[in-house]
Amino acid sequence: MPEGPFGKYLVVVIGAGPAGLFASRYLAANDVHVALLNRDVMPGGLAEYGIYFDKYKMKEGLRRQFQQIMDLPQIDYFGNVTIGEKGDLRLSDLRALGFQALLVTVGAQGTKWLGLPGENLVGVYHAKDLVYHYNLLPPQSTMEFRIGKRVALIGAGNVMLDIAHWLIREIKVDEVISVVRRGPNEVKFSKEELKIVIRNLDLAKLESELARTRPIAAEVGQDVNEAKEYILSTLPKGLEPVSNTRFYFEFLAAPNRIIGNEGGFATGLEVEDTTLVCSEGDVEAKRLSTRRILDVDSVIFCIGDKVDETFGLAVRKNAFVKHPNPLYPVDALSFEAYDPDVNRPVDRVFVAGWSREASSGLVGVARKDGENGARAILEYLASTPSLVDPMSIMNALSTKLAKLSKPVVQKADLIKLYQAAAREATNAGLPEYKFKTNEEMLKAMGLYDHQV
Ligand SMILES: Cc1cc2nc3c(=O)[nH]c(=O)nc-3n(C[C@H](O)[C@H](O)[C@H](O)COP(=O)(O)OP(=O)(O)OC[C@H]3O[C@@H](n4cnc5c(N)ncnc54)[C@H](O)[C@@H]3O)c2cc1C
Ligand SMILES: NC(=O)c1ccc[n+]([C@@H]2O[C@H](COP(=O)([O-])OP(=O)(O)OC[C@H]3O[C@@H](n4cnc5c(N)ncnc54)[C@H](OP(=O)(O)O)[C@@H]3O)[C@@H](O)[C@H]2O)c1
Repeated sequence: MPEGPFGKYLVVVIGAGPAGLFASRYLAANDVHVALLNRDVMPGGLAEYGIYFDKYKMKEGLRRQFQQIMDLPQIDYFGNVTIGEKGDLRLSDLRALGFQALLVTVGAQGTKWLGLPGENLVGVYHAKDLVYHYNLLPPQSTMEFRIGKRVALIGAGNVMLDIAHWLIREIKVDEVISVVRRGPNEVKFSKEELKIVIRNLDLAKLESELARTRPIAAEVGQDVNEAKEYILSTLPKGLEPVSNTRFYFEFLAAPNRIIGNEGGFATGLEVEDTTLVCSEGDVEAKRLSTRRILDVDSVIFCIGDKVDETFGLAVRKNAFVKHPNPLYPVDALSFEAYDPDVNRPVDRVFVAGWSREASSGLVGVARKDGENGARAILEYLASTPSLVDPMSIMNALSTKLAKLSKPVVQKADLIKLYQAAAREATNAGLPEYKFKTNEEMLKAMGLYDHQV
């Protein structure tokens, strides 16, 4: 039960990824008491369950920073609680409790389907689910994914390379094809990530793709030699290969449909040829209506995510809708949730991080966005009266959470979880250990009996 003292204001932050955690810290430093609610048992979001699992040092550094935030007495943590229309509590339930502001930092948990025929075939997945799977986030941790031998990855960002990393160095499939709707000059991945798989790249195929795309790129003022230099500059520092996986790019190829067999399994990807056109200062892919089929048995969309449409806020352009004329802008950006159906801001609700702009940037970007969301809230709070009885609101929240048919995880429970995981890691001689299911985590914290 939260005990206080509570400071001047009381704010609920929903989602304990980097945006929510750093927002909470910012608020806590400014006389705000924070109730931090999180779907996952553990805090960290994609920093815990997205960043590739072998980046131990980076993840450990982030966990240390998160722990310092979690240790702040102004922050009460409630994990294993999902907010949403189909969740444990609705956004409106929290608002009704009387919190002065609500900050939504739940990331982008929805799926960006393109509506292509064959998306529902076995062997067709979205990157986030696979990423959650190999990073052991329940429930994806125990789901089955049927990965074949020849895998098409749609997209050319860092998520594509994370999945390529897993397929090439862990699963060791025969072929990984990065299917790119624009040209070689528009790849979005970083050199650092490319180094991990560059030595599996089919260099002859790269040359032929560069030759094929050269005249088309030239039409929009691009020189594919620059892309070649970008890609090949990573070769000298490329990691020693551990598989014979052939990795290559198919440029100027937009996914059109996934072909399947009678059993419902993916057996090919039809792509439509594209050309490049200039549009409002950008280079876009224009479909040409000629098509070809790539001989693959798995297709993974690495095209970014969208927010969860069942959360309870309006969605546009993959993110929650923001006030077009914000009352509390920060760096000229709007953090205020908006209801376009009634043309009004959503009372007291703010958004930040990947909930504000889906699939945008690294942890540092989410941190800054969370802090800016907190700044917007502080501006808003400055014009609202202090709460008379914050304790009763926190008590009402605790009462509501206690009525859920599942245990709610608090800070003291997490300490037990981390200790249990550390013991497992030591016993198994591993750099780290993660429990695969919520049951295992709840048992490790002594909360499983609470289960009804
Ligand atoms: C595959 C992948 C790899 C990445 N690798 C790197 C990297 O190596 N380095 C780097 O700097 N950045 C990396 N990033 C980017 C980084 O992870 C993001 O910038 C950052 O995590 C976004 O933070 P966020 O807090 O907005 O959202 P998230 O990290 O997604 O956090 C959302 C939080 O909200 C909670 N939540 C979700 N829904 C609900 C709900 N309905 N109710 C309550 N709580 C909810 C979740 O439990 C989670 O804790 C990677 C991203 C991906 C997808
Ligand atoms: N190791 C790391 O540091 C790491 C790892 C993973 C993620 N991240 C970060 O997380 C963020 C998200 O990464 P991301 O890879 O998901 O996004 P991203 O960098 O935006 O890449 C998305 C890719 O999908 C393509 N795409 C989008 N919609 C498409 C469609 N309808 N049809 C075909 N292709 C489509 C894009 O092509 P267009 O360019 O043509 O739109 C682009 O190639 C990025 O900031 C990334 O840097 C970092």
